[in-house]
Amino acid sequence: MKDKKHWKVLLFLGALTIGFWSMLYTSKLVGIMQREEAKKVRNYADALKLSYTIDENNSEALNFITDLIKNNETIPVILVSDDGSIIDAANIDSADLKNPSQMKSILMEMKQDNMPLEIEFAPGRKQYIYYKNSTVLTLLKYYPFVQLIIIGLFILISYLAFSASRKSEQNRVWVGLAKETAHQLGTPISSMMAWMDYLKEADEAQKVDAIEEISKDLQRLELITDRFSKIGSAPILKDENIYEVMKKSIEYLERRVSKQVHFSIVTTNELMTAKLNISLFDWVIENLCKNAVDAMDGKGSIFITLSEEHHKVYIDIRDTGKGIAKANLKSVFTPGFTTKRRGWGLGLSLAKRIIENYHEGQISIKESEIGKGTTFRIELKN
Ligand SMILES: Nc1ncnc2c1ncn2[C@@H]1O[C@H](COP(=O)(O)OP(=O)(O)OP(=O)(O)O)[C@@H](O)[C@H]1O
Ligand SMILES: [Mg+2]
Repeated sequence: MKDKKHWKVLLFLGALTIGFWSMLYTSKLVGIMQREEAKKVRNYADALKLSYTIDENNSEALNFITDLIKNNETIPVILVSDDGSIIDAANIDSADLKNPSQMKSILMEMKQDNMPLEIEFAPGRKQYIYYKNSTVLTLLKYYPFVQLIIIGLFILISYLAFSASRKSEQNRVWVGLAKETAHQLGTPISSMMAWMDYLKEADEAQKVDAIEEISKDLQRLELITDRFSKIGSAPILKDENIYEVMKKSIEYLERRVSKQVHFSIVTTNELMTAKLNISLFDWVIENLCKNAVDAMDGKGSIFITLSEEHHKVYIDIRDTGKGIAKANLKSVFTPGFTTKRRGWGLGLSLAKRIIENYHEGQISIKESEIGKGTTFRIELKN
């Protein structure tokens, strides 16, 4: 959540900075060009003025002035007589030139844009040159906005892509969770079915045993429903004796895994407590130990060490398995990441959620060495 927020703020600031500098830069450019264009129009006016006073027989000078007038190829200008009628125009669309009402509206536009330049071609007789910005200048003025829109679109698209990938990640979690539910329910249910068959042919003494086993399976089912009902709601955390909790959890696991896996618990203080929700916490231990057993191919040791320091409780779970490759260390907690043929890549992401979101604790890989083993560390408040 925090990462996502940072991301958004960074994107926004980035867009703002780029927008601001590009605006500043173009407004500078626009200023320079505007001055250039005004100068050009002034030259144009001077040339026109000269053309009225020059001796018509001086063809050289006349050519020079015509060249000067033609020099303006970009800035739209309209020459207006003192009675307001249009005499001449340059750099205006030929379709507009033929359309008097269109010409009028262009002239209106020009009047708003710039003050006209006056040419006194005979004493008391004046003509006016109106002009507006060249197309390039107009385009340049809009450029920062175009740029901002493009940046905005870019950010929007990358944001959508980002959240889509998060959604697909969440979908994977749901699929995995459904799979996990089926898997968890499967064991006690098939065990109960076997006991039912056994009951049919059992004598009284055997029936008592069977009922006891069935009630264990039922307890297990109850625990599973309890866990799933806790996901999504704020769990109640209690001060629990962590050593006792771990012992019970290990007892349960020992019966389920191969006899060749040895468990041991060491603690610095048998009375230390941590704030936890047992049914969710057990789930984490189960997932970590299942992974450890997988990593050891069902043969090896799992060492659990409990310790405390500054209101924190540490639970280290070390196995003698094959270890985690350096390249995978960062990915193992990502939903869907697995190196197992039949894995869902769910165990560790679930453990992380339970520890970090529900217990406000931390889970990490303390160390891992290929061929030697891995130690996971859980940190809880006490
Ligand atoms: N103790 C461990 N030793 C070595 N590798 C481990 C250990 N724990 C986890 N891993 C690696 O991390 C990966 C992800 O583990 P995770 O429990 O999330 O998924 P999984 O065990 O592959 O599948 P699932 O738990 O959903 O059945 C594993 O596939 C494995 O490569
Ligand atoms: Mg696993």
